[in-house]
Amino acid sequence: MARRKLIAGNWKMNGNLAALAELQGIVDAAAANPKVDVAICPPFTLIAPAVAAQPALAIGAQDCHEKASGAHTGNISAAMLSEAGAKLVIVGHSERRADQFESDALVQAKAVAAIGAGLIAIVCVGETEAQRDAGEAIAIVTGQVRGSIPADATAEQLVVAYEPVWAIGTGRTPTVQDVADMHAAIRATLNETLGAAGPAVRILYGGSVKPDNARELLAVNDVDGALVGGASLTAAQFVPIIEGGAAVS
Ligand code: PGA
Repeated sequence: MARRKLIAGNWKMNGNLAALAELQGIVDAAAANPKVDVAICPPFTLIAPAVAAQPALAIGAQDCHEKASGAHTGNISAAMLSEAGAKLVIVGHSERRADQFESDALVQAKAVAAIGAGLIAIVCVGETEAQRDAGEAIAIVTGQVRGSIPADATAEQLVVAYEPVWAIGTGRTPTVQDVADMHAAIRATLNETLGAAGPAVRILYGGSVKPDNARELLAVNDVDGALVGGASLTAAQFVPIIEGGAAVS
């Protein structure tokens, strides 16, 4: 099954209006590498300005609320993100699972809301270092996938991102074999959960993806793209990752 690679940047709580200047180089690289899809997920306040500055670039958000509207002070609905011009939204990032105590059931509700508003949901999963050391990584992650993805999602609506918690922002990455084993286990879970849609759903790897390791990681079977934090903040770092994805596509 041929799947287009998606190289997505997660700016987290970084960036400002001036930083949107970085998007030009990213847009140019996306145009020069049409085999891959490219997206940037800046903070909420930068979504509309990013869309205005670069209408050709897919802009996403980093979270949404599970409800469509109501008395939820400080939250943002998926429809609001869509109106701001977002095309996708990350849900269930490990920082939110840890800092905001988000459960699989909540992440699933957010993904359902995102898809209902016409957004692509990037559902994040990943084990902690203690869980990996205990030999539980595959069981934990496949359990998160089962609990966090909408049961009737299609490959156009859903992307899964495998991000080992201990690899995020640390400069450490799993071995290529560990990535291959985990992505194969996630694929099997998607096939079992989603039926015919399973083989077409993209599975991204995330956690310390950098220019110097991107190509090797993106060449792994069932790695259909990357979710990139720190290295997505500048075109200088992100463009080689886009090129690495294109080189192995
Ligand atoms: P990192 O973050 O690339 O800075 O490790 C990845 C992520 O959290 O999505």
